[in-house]
Amino acid sequence: MTQRIRKAVFPVAGLGTRFLPATKTVPKEMLPIIDKPLIQYAVDEAIEAGCDTLIFVTNRYKHSVADYFDKAYELEQKLERAGKTEQLELVRNVLPPHVRAVFVTQAEALGLGHAVLCAKPIVGDEPFAVLLPDDLIWNRGGAGALAQMADAAEASGASIIAVQDVPRDQTGSYGIVATEPFGGRSGRITAIVEKPKPDVAPSTLAVVGRYVLDSRIFPLLESTTPGAGGEIQLTDAIATLMAESQVHAYRFQGTRFDCGTHIGLIEATIRYALDHEKLSDAARTMMQDALSELGVQDLQ
Ligand code: UTP
Repeated sequence: MTQRIRKAVFPVAGLGTRFLPATKTVPKEMLPIIDKPLIQYAVDEAIEAGCDTLIFVTNRYKHSVADYFDKAYELEQKLERAGKTEQLELVRNVLPPHVRAVFVTQAEALGLGHAVLCAKPIVGDEPFAVLLPDDLIWNRGGAGALAQMADAAEASGASIIAVQDVPRDQTGSYGIVATEPFGGRSGRITAIVEKPKPDVAPSTLAVVGRYVLDSRIFPLLESTTPGAGGEIQLTDAIATLMAESQVHAYRFQGTRFDCGTHIGLIEATIRYALDHEKLSDAARTMMQDALSELGVQDLQ
C-alpha cells in the first residue's frame, strides 16, 4: 500500500448519549469549539492530508451535518446584501471547491465497524482514512495528525493507527495495542484488544480516532460478528487484518482532546480560547477572575 489516501470516512451515526439532552437535536459532531463545529476541525485535517472525497456516515436524524456542508443560498444572499464579506467567506469556505462530500446512511447504530463498512461502496479498492471528529487533535503550527499518518502509510505501505499513552487506570475506555519496539514514531502492532481492564491490558498505548486503513478491512468487517457491547467493532476487524498485512501504531505529534466527554470539550474550548488571536487576553483575564473568586491561589 504505497498509494496516497484520497478518501476520508467520518462515522457520525452514533447516538452521542454522553451529551444528552443537547444531542437530542444537535449531533455531537456539531458541538462547537469557539465558532467551528467539531466536524469542521476533522474535515480541515483530512483536506490538509490530501483527501478530496469526504464520506459522512450519518443516521436519519443527523440532517444538520449534511445541511452544514450544503450551500446556504439564503444566508449567503443576506450576508452579501449586508456587505458582510468576512462572514460570507466563512460560510462559503466550509469546503474548498475541489472537495466533494458524500453522505451514506447507517440505518441502525450497530457499531463503529459497521459504520465504516457502510462507506465501502464509495471507498472501493484503495487505502482510506477514518476520522472520529470527537477526537480533536491540535498540532499548533505543525502538520495535522492525519497528514503525518498519511506520510507514514505512503512510506511504509502499512495501515496506520494513531495511538497515545494513557494512564493505566484508563485502559478500559480504549482499544489498547501491544507493539514491536518503536522506530521513531511507529511500531508494528502485534495485538489489539478492545477496552481491557488495567490488570490485563497488554500496554498503556491507546487507539485514538484516526486510522489509515487498507481496503482489505471491508471483507473482514463483513465477517466480523458483534463484539464488546454487542456492536461490530472496528478493533476486531483490525485484529484480523494484522494477520494478513502490516498494521502500525503511530504516536502522532500534537495534543488530543477527547471531546466525546464533558471535560474534554471544556479543555479544548479553554485551550483554543487561550490561543485565539482575538479572545486570548479576555479569556485569560476571565479565567484568572473566576479562579480568584473561587479562592484558588496557586494553579500548581
Ligand atoms: P462513541 O463510542 O463515541 O459513541 O462512537 P457515540 O454514540 O458517538 O457517543 P456516546 O458514547 O453515546 O456518548 C465513536 C464514533 O463512532 C461513531 C460515532 O458517531 C463516533 O464518531 N459511531 C458509533 C457510528 O457512526 N455508528 C455506530 O453505530 C456507533
